Amino acid sequence: MKILLASQKPFAASAVKEIRKIAEDAGHEFATLEKYASEAELIEAVKDADALIVRSDKVTAKVIEAADRLRIVVRAGAGYDNLDLEACSARGVVAMNTPGQNANAVAELAICMMIYMARKQFTPGTGSEIQGKTLGIQAFGNVGRLVGAKAAALGMRVKAIDPFLSPAQISAGGAEPVADLKQLYSGCDYLSIHIPATPQTIGSIGYELISSMPEGAVLVNTARKEVIDEAGLERALEERPDLCYVTDVAPDNIARLKEKFGSRVFATPKKMGAQTLEANLNAGLAAARQICAFFKDGDTRFQLNR
Ligand code: 3PG
Repeated sequence: MKILLASQKPFAASAVKEIRKIAEDAGHEFATLEKYASEAELIEAVKDADALIVRSDKVTAKVIEAADRLRIVVRAGAGYDNLDLEACSARGVVAMNTPGQNANAVAELAICMMIYMARKQFTPGTGSEIQGKTLGIQAFGNVGRLVGAKAAALGMRVKAIDPFLSPAQISAGGAEPVADLKQLYSGCDYLSIHIPATPQTIGSIGYELISSMPEGAVLVNTARKEVIDEAGLERALEERPDLCYVTDVAPDNIARLKEKFGSRVFATPKKMGAQTLEANLNAGLAAARQICAFFKDGDTRFQLNR
């Protein structure tokens, strides 16, 4: 079988070497398409692939249709909003992700972003400490739970909400459960978003929630830009000169936000959350192993499109 690793944002070279080894040791052919610029290049490369590993690369219906031999696509990461699951199902292609494998890297970045903003982005003047402050975590999954544990270790009070978890499960994960989002946003100095981009969540965080945050609050987004209602964010920042927004997933209106609000808004130039050697190894190797297990034993444990 031919396994293609297609990543516009490449994994570390040592991770690619390990992924190749797993594929070749299992008797498969391995190829890479890195830093490609267009969907056309992916379409060309995927034509003779039996398996595909991607990161945030968009696997559209067009890509799936061009991949005559494709039997499995694995998103080496957590969020799979870049995969057209319907198109996969229509062609009998198994789609998987590698949940939790890059979670620590994203959690560390969320903490780093809080401290970066607390210290006023290392500009002169007086910053603040995160110890003693309250952190709200929206969605207490793999990343949210790690952010909570790290924040608690740094002396923060941690509150969380998750539509799929009971209050008892949230308490067991080390955070205080809250009744609703309004309570979370209005009661936390820092608010860290960990929801996926789905039809239900897209544009769901807007003016009302953001402007309900307390004096001097910081909104941290290492999840997806799409979950923010950008016009609502802009209005809240306009009306509340004390609020800040820090993100690893730059909004479309980032240039205007920077111009209007200066250092109250910070966005990484490129999504960096999972960009550590450890996360590359964890997610990349898991993807390769899942593909080998699928071809060898028909293992579909992480299948998303059942
Ligand atoms: C994920 O969903 O796993 C993260 O957003 C990481 O995405 P990346 O592989 O594009 O860095």
